[in-house]
Amino acid sequence: MKSVCRLAIVDPNDTSRASLKHLLLGIDMVWLEAECSRYEFFTDVVMQTQPDIALVAMDADPAQGLAIVARVTQEMPTCSVLVVSSSTEGSVILQAMRNGAKEFLNYPLRLEDFLAALHRIQQIHGLREGETEVRSSQIYTIAGAAGGVGCTSLAVNLACVLAQNPANSVAVIDLDLSLGDADVWLDIIPDYTIQDVAENITRLDYALLKRSLTKHECGAFLLPRPIHLEEATPINPEELRRVITLLKATFTHLIIDLSKCISPLELAAMRASDTVLLVAQLDLPGLRNVVRLLQFFDRQEGISEKIKVVVNRLGLEETQISLTKAVETIGREIFWQIPNEYAAMVESRNNGVPLITQAPKSKLTKSIQQLALSIDKNPATENQDEPKKSKSLFRFLSSGSSK
Ligand SMILES: Nc1ncnc2c1ncn2[C@@H]1O[C@H](COP(=O)(O)OP(=O)(O)O)[C@@H](O)[C@H]1O
Ligand SMILES: [Mg+2]
Repeated sequence: MKSVCRLAIVDPNDTSRASLKHLLLGIDMVWLEAECSRYEFFTDVVMQTQPDIALVAMDADPAQGLAIVARVTQEMPTCSVLVVSSSTEGSVILQAMRNGAKEFLNYPLRLEDFLAALHRIQQIHGLREGETEVRSSQIYTIAGAAGGVGCTSLAVNLACVLAQNPANSVAVIDLDLSLGDADVWLDIIPDYTIQDVAENITRLDYALLKRSLTKHECGAFLLPRPIHLEEATPINPEELRRVITLLKATFTHLIIDLSKCISPLELAAMRASDTVLLVAQLDLPGLRNVVRLLQFFDRQEGISEKIKVVVNRLGLEETQISLTKAVETIGREIFWQIPNEYAAMVESRNNGVPLITQAPKSKLTKSIQQLALSIDKNPATENQDEPKKSKSLFRFLSSGSSK
């Protein structure tokens, strides 16, 4: 059974109603119960359909719109009324709130604003009996201290490990925009990429965003790097932040695989993250870069405290620098050590099959599974046998109906 938020909308203007509908229909958990083109019929529609939310677009006739807000609130107090209006007049906003509107949203309605409003309503209403707290999203960014240290292999395999839990929904963003190869590791031939998302950023809705993600059979989704190399950067930091906001509303875990360059885009990804795994191997150039990077991150706002150093391919060569020496050099604890298992890793990559399938019992796989557990601030406890549930922002509004 799927938790849904049932919604009724009234807007006499066909064009704006169509655009509102388009936005709402793209959201998995929103079920458009009824739409109405006349204010005078809306109370009846609401009484018949008993939606969780009534969305009143007021621009066609603000006076009638305000009146309908009051009527719906009075007749059906359990229904949260949201107003959409292009008016910025304080008196209109005040009157709408006095009449019982829970939120006053600007037209054209932005998806983030709508989701944020729903979230606020959730906090006011609290959770229904028997419901558990909605888990917040977690973002892990994987950065490397040198080329080929194992960022993508870690990003992809961490995602696949997390996706094993049916209560998680996981997406990988390949932010190595020029040379990213997360699609190879997952054996995915993408139709859409992060470039499509960036190009449509202003009209981005869930339907489009979901089309741009490709699902791997392990359950994890991938937002791939652009297909062709271009001179211009396909996505800027502000656009990336927007994409992340939208993905956070759907996924419990986002994993961002970075390129080895540190530009404003990479910094934006790190700032948006809960945890940054800085991957290095125990060699001199790598450790020297760790020191340089840590010094740089110390001067940046909102990054340093998120960094966790991960040593990959431990035991690769006899000549490796010792862990004690490494800790001494970088002046920070090593958060995780991943063993070197070349055969398992290379087979996994060449077959496009994640480690949990390719080598489920290997030390390497176990290490990544343990790492996933130790960075997950909010691990899911759901029964593995239960059907996969998406993270439900709207669970609080669920009437238990199955659509
Ligand atoms: N723990 C490991 N054991 C053995 N080989 C590894 C390990 N981690 C990564 N590799 C190998 O290192 C190579 C580079 O890894 P990759 O994830 O592509 O690095 P990056 O994304 O940092 O450039 C891959 O061929 C992969 O097979
Ligand atoms: Mg890579």
